[in-house]
Amino acid sequence: MFAALENLDFVVALRRSAWAYPIVSWLHLLGIGLLFGSIAIVDLRLLGLLRGLDKDAVRRALVPLALRGFCLAAASGFLLFAPAAREYLASPFFRLKLLLILVAGANAALFHALHGTGIRRAAETVGGLASLGLWLSIIFVGRMLAFG
Ligand code: HEM
Repeated sequence: MFAALENLDFVVALRRSAWAYPIVSWLHLLGIGLLFGSIAIVDLRLLGLLRGLDKDAVRRALVPLALRGFCLAAASGFLLFAPAAREYLASPFFRLKLLLILVAGANAALFHALHGTGIRRAAETVGGLASLGLWLSIIFVGRMLAFG
């Protein structure tokens, strides 16, 4: 299946193009920047920092931006993955990165499901800390892809 993915016409074109892969990698970095730039502010506010900002206003403004960043990072990430799918799947860093993205997604989904149900302060702190730690780890592991 992944060998077939690597040999799809648009994937072969992506691999052969001098410009396409760098542009997709640039989009991946933009997605990561939008995602982490937004979610870090939300998480720091949940941790009780940035007290000058209204917690709900921060969530309303930045969570949709973080979701757009996630979608851009995920879509461009798939295009970075496709030309060498089997090679990336053999990388423990790549598999760990996908696992951490799943856990970060579950953490965000659980938090937003509980939000408005009178979630206690302690749970907000745990959710914010977990989110911050997970995305920092994903970015580190993503960077490590180039090294092994
Ligand atoms: C959605 C959250 C994601 C984050 C925060 C993230 C983060 C990163 C980071 C920091 C890098 C290193 C960039 C560089 O140094 O140029 C990277 C590279 C990469 N990512 Fe992601 N990534 C995400 C999603 C994905 C997904 C869903 C896939 C694949 C299905 C993916 C595939 C890749 C690949 C293949 C590379 C290596 C590209 C290269 O060697 O130039 N990423 N990612």
